[in-house]
Amino acid sequence: MSLAQQLQPLPHDRLGRPLHDLRLSVIEACNFRCGYCMPADRIPDDHGLDAAGRLSFAQIETLVRGFAAIGVRKLRLTGGEPLLRKRLPELVARLARIPGIEDLALTTNASLLAGQARALREAGLRRITVSLDALEPAAFARMSGGRGEIGAVLDGIAAAEAAGFGALKINCVVQRGANEDQVLPLLERFRGSGHVVRFIEYMDVGTCNGWDPAQVVSSRELRDRIATRWPLRPLQAQYRGEVAERYAFVDGGGEVGFVSSVSAPFCGDCHRARVSADGRLYTCLFAGQGHDLRPALAQGEAWLAGHVAGLWGRRGDRYSEIRGRPQAPRKHIEMYLIGG
Ligand code: GTP
Ligand code: 5AD
Ligand code: SF4
Ligand code: SF4
Repeated sequence: MSLAQQLQPLPHDRLGRPLHDLRLSVIEACNFRCGYCMPADRIPDDHGLDAAGRLSFAQIETLVRGFAAIGVRKLRLTGGEPLLRKRLPELVARLARIPGIEDLALTTNASLLAGQARALREAGLRRITVSLDALEPAAFARMSGGRGEIGAVLDGIAAAEAAGFGALKINCVVQRGANEDQVLPLLERFRGSGHVVRFIEYMDVGTCNGWDPAQVVSSRELRDRIATRWPLRPLQAQYRGEVAERYAFVDGGGEVGFVSSVSAPFCGDCHRARVSADGRLYTCLFAGQGHDLRPALAQGEAWLAGHVAGLWGRRGDRYSEIRGRPQAPRKHIEMYLIGG
């Protein structure tokens, strides 16, 4: 433990929630244009920051040390698409060594994973979550905004298996009329593989996806549909505040998860902070504004830890619980800036 870690009291927010997870975006760019996140007609190809606008590896390392000092134990690297960040394995190696960081994970669309899985594993990455909304080639191409190719993603998954990543999580955002028909094929493919498919309710994140509640397929509806084909039995949460509800296939085919942030919000246990690639802290996925951490970061890890602890102490976000009410924030950060 560093001195900063020994000295900091662990902050709790105004609703009594500790800070436990950090979701850190390493890049705002993505090679896909999923309609629910970065629709191509709204997000031009040159939308991003230049390299100087992003935190450097040294800044990221100091930032993570500061967050670890005030309770963060789980770190997830996100994007945009994090594998577009140059020399990512080098960053992973630096972060994997930080005392207090017990879990280091990555969320990726896996299109570039085949060439990087082994280096990431060797650098100390523990877990990978793959975003995958369809299996059928034409449906996949459509869901990724015409940019993705399913073969590359499946190669990426195979490379992750070969590199020694055990069970992957495979996240699928389900939109009515868009990829509902891909739910059973995805399960057919990954049941029994050791990987866990999780279906996510389509959310009103960002400002450009034109969200309509009628496009949400509730977890309950999906679960019923899946159980007709393969009977399910509920599983206990593995830890308090687990995002997905888990079910086992009764026939021993593994498990499936549901993330129900629209129909069953889980703000009460939300212990996640998000930091964008340009160093802004967002205390909710639906926050309108971030807090620029760069000035505090320039003062070093202990100063940053104190500053973030103060910001966390003032946090009162619970957007998913108050969605639709007048007090719910109307302006939301874009999902691709904070990685989900
Ligand atoms: P594990 O660490 O593997 O349990 O992952 P996780 O479930 O914490 O993270 P993951 O990135 O797999 O989250 C899955 C999806 O759930 C995200 O892409 C978001 O769409 C959604 N999600 C995660 N955290 C939150 C949250 O705090 N609020 C809301 N509304 N949705 C969230
Ligand atoms: N609703 C639900 N999940 C979303 N994601 C991105 N946009 C949305 C949305 N509107 C999820 C994707 C991806 C992660 C980065 O964020 O599934 O796995
Ligand atoms: Fe890219 Fe992921 Fe957003 Fe799709 S959901 S556009 S893969 S960042
Ligand atoms: Fe946390 Fe905000 Fe999601 Fe609620 S809506 S679970 S407070 S990130």
